[in-house]
Amino acid sequence: MSNTVKVAITGAAGQIGYSLVFRIASGELFGPDTKVVLSLLEIPQAVTALEGLAMELNDCAFPTLAGIEINSDAEKGFDGVNWAILVGAKPRGPGMERNDLISENGPIFTGQGKALQRGASDVRAVVVGNPCNTNALIAAKNAGDVPFNRFSAMTMLDENRARYQLAAKAGVAVTEVQNVTIWGNHSATQYPDFFNATIGGKKATDVISDHDWLKGDFITTVQKRGAAIIKARGKSSAASAANAALDHVKNFHFPTPDGKWFSAAVPSDGSYGVEEGLMFSFPIRTKDDGSYEIVQGLDHNEFAKEKLAKTEAELKGEREIVKDLL
Ligand code: NAI
Repeated sequence: MSNTVKVAITGAAGQIGYSLVFRIASGELFGPDTKVVLSLLEIPQAVTALEGLAMELNDCAFPTLAGIEINSDAEKGFDGVNWAILVGAKPRGPGMERNDLISENGPIFTGQGKALQRGASDVRAVVVGNPCNTNALIAAKNAGDVPFNRFSAMTMLDENRARYQLAAKAGVAVTEVQNVTIWGNHSATQYPDFFNATIGGKKATDVISDHDWLKGDFITTVQKRGAAIIKARGKSSAASAANAALDHVKNFHFPTPDGKWFSAAVPSDGSYGVEEGLMFSFPIRTKDDGSYEIVQGLDHNEFAKEKLAKTEAELKGEREIVKDLL
């Protein structure tokens, strides 16, 4: 592997961008021996803010930061990038329904998919900007010959939220909680799967005896955590989202340790009966050769099957709204 990685970040002048870029530049993501070139992208009105961000990045004197590029043209910004972290999107405005947001943000991702195809030859892209699963589908479908499986959407924040909730309930360190899969859409229909999760190597359902909590408050707390943070903080989650984006890229960049997996929305290959081609969050493992696989053979009882069907139906509905962009 080349020891310089070029990372594009769209929406870099936004809240998540501000929490993300310094950590990437510091070498935290790819390690101390890999240099990073940051390609920061924004809408034209925010380019001046990016210039300020670049000054701050330079003033950190990070040994691993090998260059900064600033662009408002996606084709230029994606030129030669190895990773594209697509954060930039319009936030939901007052009175706006989720479906309006889907229609508003969709066109951003047709343009970015096309630009990725033209600019980047060996790229992986993760979509953070909401609705991230459907935006990732749009970008992938517009990216010509960039392989479909190079695109993913971020559900790692949901997984981290779920791990924390289980750890707090069980009274253990968060590191004891493993293999919590987020299935489906990054939305309130997502299914945080505690049945296949482990705590201290044991089944989570054996460690936590309050199964009503697992089936009820646990799931809804994870599903609605984003809204709870907006209510408390007055702004949407940003540092935790940036942290999850780092986890997501690391998870795909480095082989997954034996016996473990992580959550990410990737194109369905029909696993677990999910319609092929939907951008659906699954349990994933990265192999030694850098490719990934969807973990097979996890059991789903009737409770889980119902949740999976609901989140799959929602994703099909979102796909229908943007069908002209695919
Ligand atoms: P923000 O509003 O602070 O920043 C977004 C930035 O994107 C703005 O600076 C804006 O100018 C820029 N932008 C808009 N259109 C663009 C385009 N076409 N090209 C480049 N830049 C563009 O928002 P924040 O808090 O940073 O969140 C960004 C997105 O991430 C939102 O869609 C939010 O819903 C989503 N999000 C996703 C999470 C997940 O778990 N997948 C978690 C938290 C947020």
